[in-house]
Amino acid sequence: MSYLETTAKFYAEAAEIPQEGLCCIQSPPLQLPGLNIPEIMYQMNYGCGTTVHAAELYGNPTVLYIGVGGGLEALQFAYFCRQPRAVIAVDPVEEMRLAAMRNLQQAATENPWFDPAFVHILGGDAFALPVPDQSVDVVAQNCLFNIFEPVDLQRALQEARRVLKPGGRLIMSDPIATRPIPLHLQNDERLRAMCLSGALTYEEYIQQLVDAGFGQVEIRARRPYRLLDTQTYGLAAPLLLESLGSVCFKTPIPEDGACIFTGKTAIYTGAESLLDDHAGHILQRGIPSAVCDKTAAKLALQFPGEVVITNSTWHYTGGGCC
Ligand SMILES: C[S@@+](CC[C@H](N)C(=O)[O-])C[C@H]1O[C@@H](n2cnc3c(N)ncnc32)[C@H](O)[C@@H]1O
Repeated sequence: MSYLETTAKFYAEAAEIPQEGLCCIQSPPLQLPGLNIPEIMYQMNYGCGTTVHAAELYGNPTVLYIGVGGGLEALQFAYFCRQPRAVIAVDPVEEMRLAAMRNLQQAATENPWFDPAFVHILGGDAFALPVPDQSVDVVAQNCLFNIFEPVDLQRALQEARRVLKPGGRLIMSDPIATRPIPLHLQNDERLRAMCLSGALTYEEYIQQLVDAGFGQVEIRARRPYRLLDTQTYGLAAPLLLESLGSVCFKTPIPEDGACIFTGKTAIYTGAESLLDDHAGHILQRGIPSAVCDKTAAKLALQFPGEVVITNSTWHYTGGGCC
């Protein structure tokens, strides 16, 4: 049995017997005015953050959701889209698709605004999405891609990019590892399926996004997720996993490299009122300007002592001068 088959079997079971505590983080799911989340969706919250960012959901977007789980985020996306089939949810596990359908029917009884027809659930998988090229505005996945081995992760990212319209957004939440996960854990298919041993480091994860051709990446959240202890996991030292929320834009990669926004700002501290780096960045004295990590590094090198670069906040929602 391949690790993808083990994963499918694992989620067939998790569809029938909800596993509270599988994935999920301490913060409650995104609450919205007039949204009632059925109890079963809380129990089947198998994500590790949120991929539902209101700012990305303007103009009645079409959303393709990969790995439907109990349907919680499909319901949250539908809250913004409110059109038949505006949310297409894809999952290869029949038991999970059926559970999500049941849960969405339940949601309809608790939410007068919601029609289950807003969410179209389809069989299929992350490597062959059942929609045409450049047909959706948003692709989202929560706590699925971390399960994939690097070669498969790259295939899934390229497939997501294929179906996005130009300028479209891939919104993700995944565990990452604070140091490489040892092979004996990576090769444990059940731990991988549980989102505990397939995570890449931050640098490897970002490189995968850039390799797939995304020209801009914005980090929306980075927080502790799980600690793999020494006794249970056969480790010499505990290993912290973090949960990383990101939005990747289908824009061309600039000649000097992709723009990765992690919440850094550049502040001009010199004698003039403005600093112009003649590369498209104008900084006002004393006023923080959001910059991508590439520009932050260039400005620090070009204007030592004149530009202060603030630390990554790991929360960036747009604006700035890159
Ligand atoms: C960790 S759960 C996440 C569920 C949901 N995103 C959430 O936040 O609750 C992973 C989901 O991906 C589905 N899945 C497993 N293998 C998949 C694949 N190759 N392609 C797409 N979905 C897959 C599982 O059936 C399950 O619904």
